[in-house]
Amino acid sequence: MNTSELALQERIKELTCLYEVSSIIVNANSKEMIDTIRAIAVCLKKGFYAPNTTEILIETPKDRYKTGSIASEKQICSEIIVFNKVQGKIVASLLEKEASFLKEEQPLLDNVALKLGNLLERIEIQNNERSLKRQMEHADRLGILGEITAGIAHELNTPLANILGFAELLKEETELSKHSAVDLDKIISNAIFSREVVKKLLFFACEMPKELKELNVVPIVKESVALLDATFKKAEVRYTLHLEEELLMLRADKVQITQVVFNLVMNAIYFSPKKSTVHIDVFQSNKHLVLKVADEGIGLSEEALEKVFQPFFSTKPTGDGAGLGLSVVHGIVAGHKGTIVAENRKNKGAVFTVKLPKLD
Ligand SMILES: Nc1ncnc2c1ncn2[C@@H]1O[C@H](COP(=O)(O)OP(=O)(O)O)[C@@H](O)[C@H]1O
Ligand SMILES: [Mg+2]
Repeated sequence: MNTSELALQERIKELTCLYEVSSIIVNANSKEMIDTIRAIAVCLKKGFYAPNTTEILIETPKDRYKTGSIASEKQICSEIIVFNKVQGKIVASLLEKEASFLKEEQPLLDNVALKLGNLLERIEIQNNERSLKRQMEHADRLGILGEITAGIAHELNTPLANILGFAELLKEETELSKHSAVDLDKIISNAIFSREVVKKLLFFACEMPKELKELNVVPIVKESVALLDATFKKAEVRYTLHLEEELLMLRADKVQITQVVFNLVMNAIYFSPKKSTVHIDVFQSNKHLVLKVADEGIGLSEEALEKVFQPFFSTKPTGDGAGLGLSVVHGIVAGHKGTIVAENRKNKGAVFTVKLPKLD
């Protein structure tokens, strides 16, 4: 074969390789990216002049595959760029020291790296869309739940007030036997308990009246945490409290902000092992005042991550929790036009992040 025939043959090989890579990418399954990367590497190897002595390495943030051992001396390399950032590389290496790459082989590698970068971009966009959709569905569900809850709570409010009112009237009667008086007290205390539950449900549905005032949240957070000092001691849990500044102004309802801090910190203590630390941080971002409560406890299960803010979701043994704390917190935060997110920390434990809009 003469040189131009050889060159033509090489060109055909390269084009075939590119075509194959394209079809691998079109059929890529974003969940099994390692398969795609393996297939591309194998295909790329075949596209080189000396496939038997050429090895390919592909590296992305999540996956890494090589067709054989990579020699460090004779290499060509292309970066994989995803959203203008280098997110990996493709390396071709020749095992024979005397051999060299053809000049067309670098552009071939560049071309495949470009295609792979585009694929990774597409996957990232898809993932973002999916998580956004999930977030919206979640917010929707909480919204509907809020409406139903508010309805039920309203319906229960009047009969409960009646039960309480009439029971109190009865108590004023003088000729009540001692036994009846005790029973009546039970009715009253149970009615009061139910009224508290209804109040919490109304909080969740953001239907609690609030008194918004411009206030400094620093002393509020300090006082709330100080009130929990004894609870921390009893549980043998330590805490750190970091306040970025002494003056952090917000338009908010003082009692409700106290409730938010209280509920989050109480949960953190409850789920903290002895001798561990709860971290409470308050700082500002561009537009928000941020409150973070992080612990070193058991963290949140898949189910908990999805349901923590729903009323009556609780993993505590009955009697320890009614599962209303975080629904109340969610309601208050939403009522202040803020957001709250529950996540697991990298090492261990859960972290709750509340963001409230700053004063203009
Ligand atoms: N810091 C935390 N660590 C682990 N799980 C938590 C934490 N905070 C809340 N949870 C989960 O969310 C559930 C709901 O919390 P909450 O609404 O406060 O209700 P309750 O405290 O009555 O269970 C808890 O039972 C628990 O499963
Ligand atoms: Mg709680």
